[in-house]
Order: sequence, then structure tokens, then C-alpha cells
Amino acid sequence: MRLRCLLLPCAALFLAATVFAAQPMTDAEIEIAVEKLLSQMTLAEKLGQMTQRHYNTKSANNPVDSAAAVRTGQVGSFLNPDSVETVNKLQKVAVEESRLKIPLIFGIDVIHGYRTLFPIPVAQSCSWNPELVEAASRVAAVEASSAGIRWTFAPMVDITRDPRWGRIAETLGEDPYLTGQLGAAMVRGFQGKKLSAHDSIAACAKHYVGYGAAEGGRDYNTTLIPEAELRNIYLPSFRAAKEAGVQTVMSAFNDLNGVPTSGNPFTIREVLKKEWGFDGFVVSDWESVKEMIVHGAAADLRDAGRLGINAGVDMEMVSTSYHDHGESLLREGSISPAMLDDSVRRILRVKFRLGLFDNPYTDTTRPSPLLSEENLRVARALTTESIVLLKNEKALLPLSSEKAKTVAIIGPLADSGTDMRGCWSCKGEASECRTVYSVFKDYVGPKDKILYAPGLKHGSSTDTDDISAAVKAAKKSDVVILCVGEPHELSGEARCRASLDLPGGQDQLISAVADTGTPIVLVVFGGRPLTFSKAASQAQAILFAWHPGTMAGPAICDLLYGRANPSGKLTTTFPRSVGQVPLYYNHRNTGRPVPVDPKAAQTPLGTAEDPKGYYSQYLDLPQAPAYPFGYGLSYTTFVYSDLKVEAPDANGAIAATVTIANTGTRDGVEIAQLYTRQLVGSLTRPVKELKGFQRVALKAGEKRTVRFELPKQSLGYYNNTGRFLLEPGKFHLWIAPNSAEGKPAEFVLGQ
Ligand code: BGC
Repeated sequence: MRLRCLLLPCAALFLAATVFAAQPMTDAEIEIAVEKLLSQMTLAEKLGQMTQRHYNTKSANNPVDSAAAVRTGQVGSFLNPDSVETVNKLQKVAVEESRLKIPLIFGIDVIHGYRTLFPIPVAQSCSWNPELVEAASRVAAVEASSAGIRWTFAPMVDITRDPRWGRIAETLGEDPYLTGQLGAAMVRGFQGKKLSAHDSIAACAKHYVGYGAAEGGRDYNTTLIPEAELRNIYLPSFRAAKEAGVQTVMSAFNDLNGVPTSGNPFTIREVLKKEWGFDGFVVSDWESVKEMIVHGAAADLRDAGRLGINAGVDMEMVSTSYHDHGESLLREGSISPAMLDDSVRRILRVKFRLGLFDNPYTDTTRPSPLLSEENLRVARALTTESIVLLKNEKALLPLSSEKAKTVAIIGPLADSGTDMRGCWSCKGEASECRTVYSVFKDYVGPKDKILYAPGLKHGSSTDTDDISAAVKAAKKSDVVILCVGEPHELSGEARCRASLDLPGGQDQLISAVADTGTPIVLVVFGGRPLTFSKAASQAQAILFAWHPGTMAGPAICDLLYGRANPSGKLTTTFPRSVGQVPLYYNHRNTGRPVPVDPKAAQTPLGTAEDPKGYYSQYLDLPQAPAYPFGYGLSYTTFVYSDLKVEAPDANGAIAATVTIANTGTRDGVEIAQLYTRQLVGSLTRPVKELKGFQRVALKAGEKRTVRFELPKQSLGYYNNTGRFLLEPGKFHLWIAPNSAEGKPAEFVLGQ
């Protein structure tokens, strides 16, 4: 017999639920239970379910008594509860003292880990490893749920082409396909195999939609996106999250083509709910319903609530327009009872799916999963795969005791646990983040020497007094590990930058160290692509390590000493200068592209060298990026040959093969990328679009033919009336190590 306390007093449940695991309800049972409950609810209780409050103890700033609000059915969810005790306490009020005993759902931003911190999402995407990304999100879910959190506001599946935007750190790169694949992996990881399991948490695809296209990379700014671009670039990753079963979606802050996204019935009701059939619920971003007043789209809070409800935003985060004005809006007829029922139905459905009615409490007697050995192992593996080797002159890396008897560890980020955390570090502690310096002794020989000199007190510091000590250390050493980059507080929400350069006195520090002539391994940390061409020319090797999380030091040192071979590849284009932004690989050709000649990409035309060059370019900068999308080196080398496209099968699916050889002396993993280009279209088409990728593990000297299959549909695109087109004609296809290399094969897409 199924154990169920549905709609019954749940006082004895806390204990019982931990002893007997209830079977999950079937979808049909959930729908029946939702309807039954809905039929018993008052209007105030419905509006209560549609309200999410920020947890706070009662204070002058927060006049709401949380327990009283729960008892009277005025709240359906809290974000940011301070402890598992608070969760259980408020849950008890909800399921024992409120009229209908509807459990609360508690959410928090578990973006790249709860206590065990994984690399920031943009770094995770450089692994191109959906399985490992899924495993990391699973760990995050297990840790978060142990503290009563059954909902995370992740994954962020926004696309951006602008590294000035501080939230690029939270994205999964600039490509819609890869973002969709990895976003879906995160959804699977958070939600687990069974949503009702005590350690599964609901995921939330955010920020719907176009938030990453903010003008000038300024957070919260205007977005103007034609429908074709919306459907081809910004929507596919949300669709992928929906297909992976994401339970919630967050509407965004931005104004999209003049309509704030938290009041946009087209994107939410029409596309997400109707066209795609999303049956979970939409939560607003933090006060984004109320902010429609500031946008100039709503006259007052009541009007903002009207827009939010009409658009299909089911739950309002923090602001209280639904709670305060829902009743009068309904009375006047500017929202309908059906709209409210639809929203409440969705919220209850997710609560039932999570098993919250059967198991509302968090069992605090279970052994804590936080920072377990296994969790740290997953973090170390993912961190290692997230780091990208950008340069390795004369095979300086990997290091060994023979190559370097004395090593200087220099730089303000060499021993900064705080900066390893990155933005949205949830419950991760700086003191738990292992830095490069803190673990380095485990990698050198017993007689080797480590000299440590940070050079600058902090990443943004302009006080250069300590540089002389760093120079002294460099002079005495065989190699310098120079840890520079962006401190964590320059990255994340509202952390936009007009410059992508290394902050503070870092360039000065690097130049002073370079002047000693000791070879430099530059380890660059950051939450975004940075511009550091001078430093790059002064260093012999460069690892781009992002904000790597708890296992920063071990992963970086594993790579430095060759215990692991780098395999990460960039998922964002790295510009040479902020003046090139936006710069992205899947741009259109224009009528005057810079000639397809590697030399032309490196030398501006229209200058003394070619005064006739009327091309789409800058005169004062080579056109190629510093590092293209998909780029990353290994300690071995891979050679691609024999690209072939097979004739389409009966369903029109295309298959292509290529042979990849590991021509070096080390085993390694190559991330092979498949790109296509439709040569002529009824809308101009991007010069390349990523359609597939494979991680190919090859032993030294090994060679293998890999095969990719592309469904016919993947060659289509949307036009500006929202129509999906599959246009016959010629295509180019590459399977290549990155977006800038390789020669294409040609094929024809038939009718
Ligand atoms: C952010 C969201 C986040 C929310 C709750 C907002 O400021 O834009 O991404 O989920 O806060 O913390």
C-alpha cells in the first residue's frame, strides 16, 4: 500500500517519512490531487501560492512575519532560507498549521555547487563533457537538498556575445547548441532520476529570454532581438532544458523589443507554454514584476501584477503585486480566474512531483554529504577538464622536478581562496578552496624549492611596492608560476566591465617578472574572456583557469605537472581588444568580409599594406580574435584527415566521418567539433554553426575514425515570422579542432 498523507494532518510524518519511503505518485494521480486541492482553495490561498518571499526574520526592513504568512496561506515559497532548521520549522507551520497544509518549496541559487564548489558554469562548458557536468549538478543537488533546498535557480542558459557582461560567468558559452546540451545535462543532474527522491531538486532555466543580449554588456539593459534571431540563437537552449524536463523557468529583467520579459505573453504563454507544452511553472526574477513600473511599462504595482499574470508569470519573486492586488484585478476583470488556476495548478504540480506532500521535511539525521571525498573527486575531474591550455612554447609544460628545481609562485591569485570561488558561491567557503600555492608542495621533489611572492596584495591593487620581492623570487627560480586575473568580485550579476584587461598593477607585475628572463607559466583566473595580449607574449605557457572552485589548486597542479593532460576548449571567443566586442564565431558573412586568408585575418587591410581594402574590419587591429571559439591545446597533438560526408539516409539524415590521429607522445582527449554552413538561404546564414561534438580519447600514436550523425532537422532555421525552414541547397561541413581551422567538405540537402 502506498504511504500517503495527502491533505491530511502531517504531524507524524517527519518520522514516518524517514522510515518508509513513499512510492512516487503517477502523473495521473498528481493531476487528480492537484485538481482536488485547487477546488478547495480560496482566492487568497491561490495568490499565496503564487507568492515567493525572501526569507528573513522579522525586522524593520522586512515587516513580514514569515511563520504568520505561512500559517495564513499567504506564501508558497521562500528563497534563501538561512538553515535547515528554518526550513523544517516553516514547513511544519505550512503542513500542520495552515488550512490546506500545502508544503512550501525552498529555493536558492545553487549555480556551480552548494558547498563543494565546481568551476563557474562558463568554465564547466569548456569541458564539453555533458556527463561530467551532469555529475557535478547531481552532487550540488545532493548537498543542497541535505539543507532543505529542493529548488535551484539554475541552469542559466542565456546566450551572450559580450564578455563585458558580468554574468557571462554563469553562461555555458556563446553557442546555442552547446548551451542546450550542457543546460540539459545540468537539469538532469539537479533533478536526478526521480524528482520525488529526497535528494532531487527542481531546476530552473533562466533568464527567459534574451537577457544576455543586453546592450553594451550592461546588466539589465535593453534587448532588441528579431524573431529569427530569438528563435535561432536565444530560445533553443531553453527548449533543450524543457525537453530535459526542467520544472521551472525564470522570466528575466530585460525589456525585449519594448516588452519587459516578465510581462511578455508571446514568449511565455505562446512559445513556452503553448508551442512547447511546458507544464511546470514560471517564476519571475527578483522583483522583475515590480520593475515593470521602472521600465515604464506599468503605471503602478497593481498594473505590474496585471502584466505579470497576463503574461503567464506564475510565481512572483519578492515583490508582492499578486498578493496585494490580485483580488482587485480579478474583480475588475483584468485577470481571469482561469489564469490564476493555471498558475496555481502548475505550482502544485511541481510540489507534488517533488514529493513535498509526502515528504515535506528534511531529515537532518542523515550523514552530511557536504564536501565528501567523492564530491571533491568530481570537482577535481571537472575543474581539470574546464581549464584551457592557450599556449605552450617549446613544451615548457608539463613541468617536472628535472625541469624546475626552484619554482617561484607569484601573483595575487596564487593563494586566494576567495577568488577561487567565483560569483554565486552559495555556501562555499574561501578557506575550503585549495589554492595553487597551498598544494604546490605535493607536486615538487623533496629537495626542490618553492618561493612565494604575491607581488600585489590583491588582484585589483595598484600598490606596486611588493613587486620587487616577486622579481627577486623570479630571479632565483627555474620557472615562474604567475597567477593573475580577475578577482571574484569583478564577475557576476551587475559586475560589468568596460575594460577586459587585467586589473590593478598586474601588467606591471608581469612585465617586471618577464624582464628577469625566467620562463613564465601564466595561470589566468577570471569570470569572463580577458584581454592580455602583452602578458601572453611575455609568457611561455598559459593556462586559462577561470574561477575554478574548491579544487582549484589540485586541478591546476595536476595539469602543470602532467598528471592530467589539458583537454578543455574555449566556448567563448576571446577578443584581442574590448573594441572588437561583440565578436563571435557564428556571425554572418556580410557583403564585404575580410578575405578568407589567415594572413588577412592577422593584418588589417586598407592600411599601407593594402590601401584598397574596403572590408568589414578595424584599421587598427587584426580581425581574428585572440583565441577563437573551440580553441584549446593539449600536451599531445592531433591531426585530422579524410573528412567524408555520406549520402543522406531515407530520413534525410546526414552522416560524416573524419580520422583523428594522436601524433604526439602522450595519451590525450580531443574535442572534435562539427560545423555546417548553408551557403545560400532565404535569410543570410551564419558562416559556421556548431551541430555536434565528440570527446575522442586517443592513446599516443593511436588513430581513429569518428562518425557524426545529423538529423535533417538540425540543418533548418527559423525566419522572422517564426516559420521553421529546411531549405534545399549546398552546405559546407567541417569536423575540426576549433571554429577557425579545418577545410570543409560539401554536401547538398535535397527536397
Ligand atoms: C538574479 C537571478 C537569481 C535571483 C535570486 C536575481 O538578482 O538575476 O539569477 O536567481 O536574483 O537570487
